[in-house]
Amino acid sequence: MTDKLNVHSILDFKKRGEQIAALTAYDYSTAKFLDRAGIDLLLVGDSMNMVVFGEPSTLTLRLEAILPHVRAVASAAKRAFVVGDLPFMSYQPSVRDAVISSGEMIRAGAQAVKLEGGRAFREHVEAITDAGIPVMGHLGMTPQSVHKFGGYRLIGKGEIEAERLIDAAVALEDAGVFSIVLEKIPADLSARVAESVEVPIIGIGAGKHCDGQILVTNDLLGLFDEFKPKFVRRYAQLNEIMIESVGNYVSDVKDGSFPSDEESYK
Ligand code: KIV
Repeated sequence: MTDKLNVHSILDFKKRGEQIAALTAYDYSTAKFLDRAGIDLLLVGDSMNMVVFGEPSTLTLRLEAILPHVRAVASAAKRAFVVGDLPFMSYQPSVRDAVISSGEMIRAGAQAVKLEGGRAFREHVEAITDAGIPVMGHLGMTPQSVHKFGGYRLIGKGEIEAERLIDAAVALEDAGVFSIVLEKIPADLSARVAESVEVPIIGIGAGKHCDGQILVTNDLLGLFDEFKPKFVRRYAQLNEIMIESVGNYVSDVKDGSFPSDEESYK
């Protein structure tokens, strides 16, 4: 069996120049197959509020709702490093809230937590890491601030926004993060961020100059088909496979061909 990855393994990827392949996961069965496929990092993302619970944004997810999913993914991940995403308002109100919520994530089986935001969250990051919990940062288009941005827009287009983002990445690294997710920013800006910090930069819609990539699994597999951001590459259309398979089951039940004698007990 391959060894379980830890926070040092994640740092080592950048040191030896190997890209980190990361995905989101929300349930045991899916996480088991992603782990078997060789995924390095599994994020139990607050995107689950949209792709699992059908909500229009991540803003209504609560800590209590994500914890059982963290537990399920952690049970499945024999090798992948598991990160729990701190939901909206589970860490913003105070440093104390941030530490307590992070502790719940660790108790549920996460090996690290992720939070959104830059310089304003330095103290939060320091306090969580002081409590012995690795923290992943998240900069760029941070969905929990969608109303501040006025939509899911590209961040870091002008030089002022670009410099602010680089400064935020350096501040997070100083505060102790082990890695930073960069979402929806121009590709050349990711290169500047990746050069400015030593911790791995994991991109989503941030181009190829990152130290790794992350996508929402339901987007990649075609299980979430309501919209497809430009940065998503669809590797499968499981929506079509599910509709066809379940359609076949419905007609077999209706015409009496399921169950057969072989599928029945004598
Ligand atoms: O919740 C999530 O899926 C995320 C990724 C977009 C990185 O935060």
